[in-house]
Amino acid sequence: MSALAGKRIVLGVTGGIAAYKAIEVSRRLVDAGAHVVPIMTESAQHFIGTTTLSALASEPVQTDLWHNPSTPIPHTKFGQGADLILVAPATAKLLAAYRMGYSHDLLTNTLIATRAPVIVCPAMHTEMWEHPSVIDNIDTLRQRGVHVVEPESGRLAGGDVGAGRLASPEAIVAAAERVLGPRDLTGVQVIVSAGGTREPIDAVRVVANRSSGKQGYAVAAEALARGADVTLVSTVSLPAPVGAIVVPVETAAEMQAAIEQRAPSADVIVMAAAVADFRPVAAASGKIKKQDGVPEVLLEPTPDILAGLGATKPARQVLVGFAAETDDLVANAQIKLTKKNLDLIVANDVGASQVGFAHDTNAVTLLRPDAEPVEIDLAAKRDVARAVINTIVEIRASTQTGKD
Ligand code: CTP
Repeated sequence: MSALAGKRIVLGVTGGIAAYKAIEVSRRLVDAGAHVVPIMTESAQHFIGTTTLSALASEPVQTDLWHNPSTPIPHTKFGQGADLILVAPATAKLLAAYRMGYSHDLLTNTLIATRAPVIVCPAMHTEMWEHPSVIDNIDTLRQRGVHVVEPESGRLAGGDVGAGRLASPEAIVAAAERVLGPRDLTGVQVIVSAGGTREPIDAVRVVANRSSGKQGYAVAAEALARGADVTLVSTVSLPAPVGAIVVPVETAAEMQAAIEQRAPSADVIVMAAAVADFRPVAAASGKIKKQDGVPEVLLEPTPDILAGLGATKPARQVLVGFAAETDDLVANAQIKLTKKNLDLIVANDVGASQVGFAHDTNAVTLLRPDAEPVEIDLAAKRDVARAVINTIVEIRASTQTGKD
């Protein structure tokens, strides 16, 4: 279950061109199980219609401090009932009013009449974003504990390019998950590997595999949402989860070097990557030409990164492997769990439909030494990631207290 499930989120939309993106934010929050109460300022209504947002939120848009048929004091109702207030986009005017406690409309009144956490997602032109007054307002709000999802650099209204574009809906929803979810990995150093390695045959050809990296990225996103510091050692170029340090690699050897360098200080390592087991002994420096006939490519084994980590694992470190299997799933994964000295292995039947490589869904079995296997039925990769992280948190708790 998402950290947002069952949570009541007031989504404040102010008057900027990025207001249209609030509709996508609302849809994603609702999909994650949140109850979205939308509030639009008067200026926001110049940019998007109330009907669209009403249709995609959990209840009709509120716009007015007065004339509310359900309650004479809507701001206290919405402010007190909220688990989170999220303002996206937040204009310079909204930030100034909120900072000063200048409660002149329904949204600013609601922001003042709440004890719930607040996230603001500023969006404005670069000159405005860099103006000392805006910088000062943001600093003050941050000091008061308001969460700020910083704007990105990119194309702005009118064709200008610069800092100030509203963060992506994905980043905004991830921030809400971080604020509302359990922070049970705060300060924990996590390394996640993701994607399939590519081993060169010649200057243009590689030995590769079907791994998309999606499951590893989902594990990284979930660990970040729970407060971890995440390094993602990746062979693919999916959009990186906000806050992750991404180390791009291509081959098994590069992945090994990147991970081994960082492993001693890691509290958790999750090897979700599909590391090639064999690589060409020597890659041709140029392109192998057809007229020279069918080449014989001699292969040699790659180092088993995970087995190496298992052999030198510090006692406090939680080591997690994945097992891609097409036959005898649990028995084969069990052997890898023991042989590689792992605390957890996520067994993946990559031959089943909707499961494993390239799909957005997965079904896995979680195996730990001396514990019953736990089956996770077909679910979104993010939900599988949550189950994996929950188990890691359990393992860390049991090693820290010395019991299982
Ligand atoms: N792994 C690794 N280095 C390798 C091969 C695999 O670190 N050279 C890791 C993978 O990242 C995964 C786990 O070991 O977490 C199991 O990988 P998998 O391919 O399922 O198993 P193998 O040990 O390679 O055995 P086989 O391919 O024969 O099933």
